[in-house]
Amino acid sequence: MLKDKKILIGITGSIAAYKILSLIRLLIKARAEVKVVMTPSAKDFISPLTVSVLSKNKVIIELAENDEWENHVMLGRWADVFLIAPLSCNTLAKMANGICDNMLLATYLSATCPVVVAPAMDEDMWKHAATKRNLATLKKDGVHLITVNKGELASGLFGEGRMAEPEEILTFITEQFFRTNEFKGRKVLITAGGTHEPIDPVRFIGNHSSGKMGFAIAEEFYLKGANVTLIIGSVQVKTFFKGIKVIKVTTADEMYQATLKEFKNIDIAIMAAAVADYKPLNVAKEKIKKNKKNISLQLVKNKDILAYLGSVKKKNQFLLGFALETNNENENALNKLKSKKADAIVLNSLKQKGAGFGLSTNKITILHKDGTLKDYGVKSKTEVAKDIVSFMANFV
Ligand code: CTP
Repeated sequence: MLKDKKILIGITGSIAAYKILSLIRLLIKARAEVKVVMTPSAKDFISPLTVSVLSKNKVIIELAENDEWENHVMLGRWADVFLIAPLSCNTLAKMANGICDNMLLATYLSATCPVVVAPAMDEDMWKHAATKRNLATLKKDGVHLITVNKGELASGLFGEGRMAEPEEILTFITEQFFRTNEFKGRKVLITAGGTHEPIDPVRFIGNHSSGKMGFAIAEEFYLKGANVTLIIGSVQVKTFFKGIKVIKVTTADEMYQATLKEFKNIDIAIMAAAVADYKPLNVAKEKIKKNKKNISLQLVKNKDILAYLGSVKKKNQFLLGFALETNNENENALNKLKSKKADAIVLNSLKQKGAGFGLSTNKITILHKDGTLKDYGVKSKTEVAKDIVSFMANFV
């Protein structure tokens, strides 16, 4: 998404400046081009040399150096986005009043690209009337704000004022400016994670699903312009994308109800959740004590969400399921495709190296109801999500 995008970063004098080094690394890893302009006081917090090495570009601080003038106008035009982070109170006040006494401010005043700010300050400064007034002015001037987090502050106090984390900033920029249109207007529903079936008030039947695969698919569809709803059970991951609608459930029954409610208006449904096949027939009201030598739990079958959707889906709705197999993989996956009336099934085999619970890689085969079968190599779950979404683009 960020490949070849031109990101201009403005760093001001704040202790949070050190976090920008991680952000630059994330941007370079995403193959964006990065240029940095710093205020003179930012040099007290991080070294321009480090910034220059990481960004692979010369850092600009002064308006003129060795009788040469830095072209702040062209810098603003070069950029697809100008991010000012961390934004100090001082630079905020100057921006709100159009003051132009350093290179960063001159670049801001001449920037024709979108401008985003990520403030960092102590809580009392953040809550000051002057800060609120200045931020309101910036917003009126069309500047995008990445609001502060709550947490430990440089003063040692705990409160609001921490700059957003690098990953949050990266997500904000991608979400606001770099989503594409392949699935624009399409409504996609995804289930992810494992369900918990209660035994008593303190115990449940669960599984090892981390939710990584479902989240990666949701984010990929979202980045390609889709309107995404993600129904999650127990997961070990989260998404920073604010535009993805997340619905949290616990049991298979709750996931069934939530999925049915959403399904009517959906174009594409992807069932990536590890739904418990069985639940205890009776849930003990009090904690089960260990006063018996043996106990047994009677289990009853949960509803199969994918199979139900397969039985009610309309012609224009595309339904994709997963099959996790340990043996007779293709045959079992094909049976699931047919019996659940899905349009396609993504097969993962626990026998394959690089595939399985909790891993960040996966190896899949996609079986389509038209009889075609496509094998993919071992890839990161993000890459696998890209393959699945590209595959879907052929059918919807
Ligand atoms: N699935 C579902 N509801 C269930 C069980 C499974 O929607 N109650 C979906 C899963 O999300 C997945 C597909 O069905 O998309 C296949 O799940 P899997 O666990 O591989 O197979 P099962 O149908 O549970 O069959 P088995 O455990 O016998 O292999």
